[in-house]
Amino acid sequence: MGKKISKICCIGAGYVGGPTMAVIAQKCPHITVTVVDLNQARIDAWNDPDTNNIPVYEPGLDAVVAEARGRNLFFSTEVDKAIDEAEMIFISVNTPTKTYGTGKGMAADLKYIELCARQIARVAKDDKIVVEKSTLPVRTAEAVKNILQNTGNGVNYQILSNPEFLAEGTAVEDLHAPDRVLIGGDTTPEGQEALESLVEVYANWVPRERILTTNLWSSELSKLTANAFLAQRVSSINALSELCERTGADVSEVARSIGTDSRIGPKFLKSSVGFGGSCFQKDILNLVYIARSYGLKEVADYWEQVIIMNDHQKRRFATNIVKTLYNTVSGKKIAFLGWAFKKDTNDTRESAAIYVADDLLNEQAGISVYDPKVPESQVYSDLDYLETRASEKNKQLVTVVTDPYEACKDAHAIAVLTEWDEFKEYDWIKIFENMKKPAFVFDGRNLLDTNKLKDIGFKVYSIGKEA
Ligand SMILES: NC(=O)c1ccc[n+]([C@@H]2O[C@H](COP(=O)([O-])OP(=O)(O)OC[C@H]3O[C@@H](n4cnc5c(N)ncnc54)[C@H](O)[C@@H]3O)[C@@H](O)[C@H]2O)c1
Repeated sequence: MGKKISKICCIGAGYVGGPTMAVIAQKCPHITVTVVDLNQARIDAWNDPDTNNIPVYEPGLDAVVAEARGRNLFFSTEVDKAIDEAEMIFISVNTPTKTYGTGKGMAADLKYIELCARQIARVAKDDKIVVEKSTLPVRTAEAVKNILQNTGNGVNYQILSNPEFLAEGTAVEDLHAPDRVLIGGDTTPEGQEALESLVEVYANWVPRERILTTNLWSSELSKLTANAFLAQRVSSINALSELCERTGADVSEVARSIGTDSRIGPKFLKSSVGFGGSCFQKDILNLVYIARSYGLKEVADYWEQVIIMNDHQKRRFATNIVKTLYNTVSGKKIAFLGWAFKKDTNDTRESAAIYVADDLLNEQAGISVYDPKVPESQVYSDLDYLETRASEKNKQLVTVVTDPYEACKDAHAIAVLTEWDEFKEYDWIKIFENMKKPAFVFDGRNLLDTNKLKDIGFKVYSIGKEA
């Protein structure tokens, strides 16, 4: 039996910390859950009386927050106080790819994790269970443990690894009914007791047989492995999409044909302009870096190819637009439908749209962006972050509009970058009439009804189908 937990704190109120803790609070009314963050604006948004304004858009999340917030779910910037009061502390801060020094562009930047560990070590006065919720390189728990245990103030710590497998866009659904919850802990009796405490939290709504327990290192490595396998499927089908375009095979038909094999399964076989999101690329680069650091060259090269293929897929989508528009897009208007990295989220991190836009801007295209959930400021900040050109130039070449028909008006081409459902429902006849002719559609998500569009008069290019 583990100690019964009544107070939880989570450091990091982002796309993982926010939804995960909201669901724990919803399902465990007897546990007080406080989510803390350094970012005041983010915390203010989580506390906005109108739950439409919470900072993470996820279907159903507003209702979960409305139910638990103020009852046993709290958002605050008082990090020390929350650490002090909690028996169990989740660390859910960001672990981006390093942008400096050794491992630049590959390794995970663990400075935020270390800062959290040091802050816990400084503040804690009684025993704590520290849970790694962030995705971390295998053996990070060792470093966290070292920092915590070397304070010499008599506090005992147990470190658990509890990686999060939710997918953005379906986070609430995934948290309510996860395929599995994974918890890794020390194999000592104290470690197992801590692990049991966390099992009991999840057991409030997750069937016991879906709560897997492992040692710390298996748990840490399993999260990187899961993302590597998922991304690898996307790169595998995308690699074949290019071959389909040359041979007359149709990638959707190929995906359906192989997906019915129960050994392969139907999910994650959708060809597209390439995967995005904050996790896949970062986690694979991290895996590659770890393998290299152990001298495992073949292992590293094998996984790196998943990223190389994904970069190629994004680039060739942009190249195809230029080539099809008679080898020049200079001064032409290209409408972007979608900017988020996938539908049903406002997250744009590593979105394929950013890189496709960057390539087209290098060719002096004008771009008009419409996304139902992404604000103008985010589009500009994503492009500025690349530092390809001056911020003023991005503002000059890119406009962000709140009406899809305006985005498409007078455009030479439309590029579909996100699979938002609403795009299918548009009045495509009206869109066609208001475009320059020939009117092109480049469907980067194979979302639209190609035959219908062709009947209207569009020239349509889909991924993995002969034009
Ligand atoms: N986004 C996903 O779908 C997903 C899924 C599974 C796992 N993960 C992992 O979860 C972790 C968090 O991801 P995210 O998408 O929620 O990131 P995020 O950037 O949305 O949120 C992280 C938050 O942590 C805060 N923070 C950083 N350092 C802090 C500190 N010292 N004290 C207090 N707050 C601090 C930041 O201000 C930010 O609000 C990452 O390791 C990621 O790999 C993400």
